[in-house]
Amino acid sequence: MGHPRFSFPESVVPSPHLVRHTIGYGSLAIIGKVTVPRLGRLPVVGSPSWAEVSLDALRQNFRAVRQHVGENVAICAVVKADAYGHGAAACAGALESEGASWFGVTGTEEAMALRRAGIKARLLLMTGIWKGEEDEVVASNLTPTVWEPWHIEALERAAARRQIVLPIHLKLDTGMTRLGASKEALPGLCRSLAASQHLRLEGVSTHFATVRDLEKARKQEALFHEGLAILEFNHLRPALIHMANSAALVSRPGTWKTMVRPGIVLYGYSLTAGRAVQAEDIAALPLQPVLSWKTRVIALKDVAAGEAIGYGGTFVTQQQSRIAILPVGYADGFHRLLSNRGRVIVRGEYAPVVGCVSMDLTTVDVTYIPGIEPGDEVALIGESNGKSVDAHEHARLCETIPYEILCSISKRVPRVYIGS
Ligand SMILES: Cc1ncc(COP(=O)(O)O)c(C=O)c1O
Repeated sequence: MGHPRFSFPESVVPSPHLVRHTIGYGSLAIIGKVTVPRLGRLPVVGSPSWAEVSLDALRQNFRAVRQHVGENVAICAVVKADAYGHGAAACAGALESEGASWFGVTGTEEAMALRRAGIKARLLLMTGIWKGEEDEVVASNLTPTVWEPWHIEALERAAARRQIVLPIHLKLDTGMTRLGASKEALPGLCRSLAASQHLRLEGVSTHFATVRDLEKARKQEALFHEGLAILEFNHLRPALIHMANSAALVSRPGTWKTMVRPGIVLYGYSLTAGRAVQAEDIAALPLQPVLSWKTRVIALKDVAAGEAIGYGGTFVTQQQSRIAILPVGYADGFHRLLSNRGRVIVRGEYAPVVGCVSMDLTTVDVTYIPGIEPGDEVALIGESNGKSVDAHEHARLCETIPYEILCSISKRVPRVYIGS
């Protein structure tokens, strides 16, 4: 009978396109077809808000990237951090059936979750390995990024134990000053790689600190080319040369080399113009946001002028007002900085957030939106009636980036998959 606290009118029917869903954010298991009850209840029982992830949009974005870079550039689709909050197993599954042959993950843990979910494609461990993981890496056909002598020694021993030749990717630090070998360390690593019997240098990579600052980006490119020359001098010629993230993919074709590593564009968000990158320099890929975040009005309150709303009374009504209460809060990832700043869409109209976002509840002003009822669907991130709120907007209001907005939609918000 659904969740006892949430019972909505017959007319409120969830999208008929909901065909699959996962339980929870962590479990990643697709549990097959779900018949959405025509009861007007929430599509996922017990969840007052849910994130709809369009696998069709994801596949379309991948096709757009493929068309943009052409067939001769390999694509390593970045699905780390649970596919930026979208659900790595479902996203990788959809992308694999779209032809994706490489996925970028943070480390062994994330890669093993994908293997358990049946993903067969190559998995690049972008943040390297921890000591002790090397046997698992070899056994599960994972592709480690290396940049320290002990990486090479430990993986060489593990590959030797299994009598295989393990492909690895070497990372160069060209200006991010995070992970990767320095130019000075490179000759020594080259010697170790050349001497190795069970490792094959398949790839070499670096990561941009910025593509907006042209001077810095060019410096990184120049240093990367110096690194490639050192490899060549040592007779190491990896087939996969990669540096481009989404921003470089849409604005610097010269950085594509033989592989690109797009993340955020796959989820429908591109580089915005400004700070040194002009709109005309950004390729307009036909991208669609993959994730919409929805909830429903849990209650309505008519409030006289002069009433304070929510914790701290940070909003005081100036007039007789109608306030809709939404069962979503900062514990779901609806950021507290959206208090008195954000907006949602209900009945095709924008409704401003009034008062403080609390842990489980948010209040919005719907005074000028006629006909609202408990159970009405609300878009927290999404589109309706030609209006939209996207992760860029949340990011601007919360002084962060769309990545963080998407990644911080919490575990208690179930991901509901649309399409296949
Ligand atoms: C090493 C590496 N490559 C590629 C990406 C993808 O970046 P983006 O999402 O900006 O395309 C990331 C993400 O941070 C990364 O860490």
